[in-house]
Amino acid sequence: MKISVIGAGNVGQTTAHYLAMKGFAKEVVLVDIVEGVPQGKSLDIWESQPVNMQDTIVTGTNGYQETANSDIIVMTAGLPRKPGMSRDDLLAKNTTIVKECTASFAQRSPNAIIIVVSNPLDVMTYVTLKVSGFNPKKVMGMAGILDTARYRSFIAMELGVSVEDIAALVLGGHGDTMVPLPRLTTVGGIPLPELMDQEKIDAIVKRTAGGGGEIVKLLGYSAYYAPAAGVVQMCEAIALDKKRVLPCACWLTGEFGVEGIFMGVPALLGKAGVEKILEVKLNDAEKAAMMKTVDHVRSVQAEGEKFM
Ligand code: LAC
Repeated sequence: MKISVIGAGNVGQTTAHYLAMKGFAKEVVLVDIVEGVPQGKSLDIWESQPVNMQDTIVTGTNGYQETANSDIIVMTAGLPRKPGMSRDDLLAKNTTIVKECTASFAQRSPNAIIIVVSNPLDVMTYVTLKVSGFNPKKVMGMAGILDTARYRSFIAMELGVSVEDIAALVLGGHGDTMVPLPRLTTVGGIPLPELMDQEKIDAIVKRTAGGGGEIVKLLGYSAYYAPAAGVVQMCEAIALDKKRVLPCACWLTGEFGVEGIFMGVPALLGKAGVEKILEVKLNDAEKAAMMKTVDHVRSVQAEGEKFM
């Protein structure tokens, strides 16, 4: 298992670090245009492996040759958000960056599965699909695990229970229109609405939708620990063919009544990539929220086409 991580910024370096500590990949290649940075960061990570007791080899490079024949490519390159910016404000710049990077890595790893993290997430995944020409099952975006993790962590904090016992699902685009589903959220098997009043649930849903922005406001730049954890969970599901059911940005061809965009839906992840999209019946309010997020992603995608 060879995993290449494109972009050695905060998300890229943290992903490489988590991957090294997990040890399921034989090799991790960290790529960035800044000379010395991917080499230095990967050497530092590699030097931690005797302490981690893991053999995953981590190397850094400024070119794409070393990424050849990757099994998984994690695309993190692009400008991150600054305070006051929405993910959509990055559209023009990041379309160009994602396009260039994808053209460089896709031909060298024709059998790879690509996980996109660059923002605006759903549309950058679309750009990657179009430029790579890969099978849509092998191109996906990481956002749903992150959004769901934020939501689960807020619920755990509020109820004072273990994060392990909260199962939940956040659907839709990665942005303010995302659709957390309290009706389908359980705490040790108990439906969330039986344990928390509606006002608290609403507050958590709102905080989840603005979760990325909350970190940007505090830090001055985007989150990376939780995003990288989400990426690594997807890599692990694919590498170990685990058939996990995880919310991922997938190419839709009629599922949930939607086609022609990427959006967060429950995906069965295994060695072939998105092996299946699982559907769930939504009530009227949830359907209305889905329509809103679909419209939003569609309009950003149409805007993005101009820069392709
Ligand atoms: C976030 C960015 C990575 O949600 O989109 O933190």
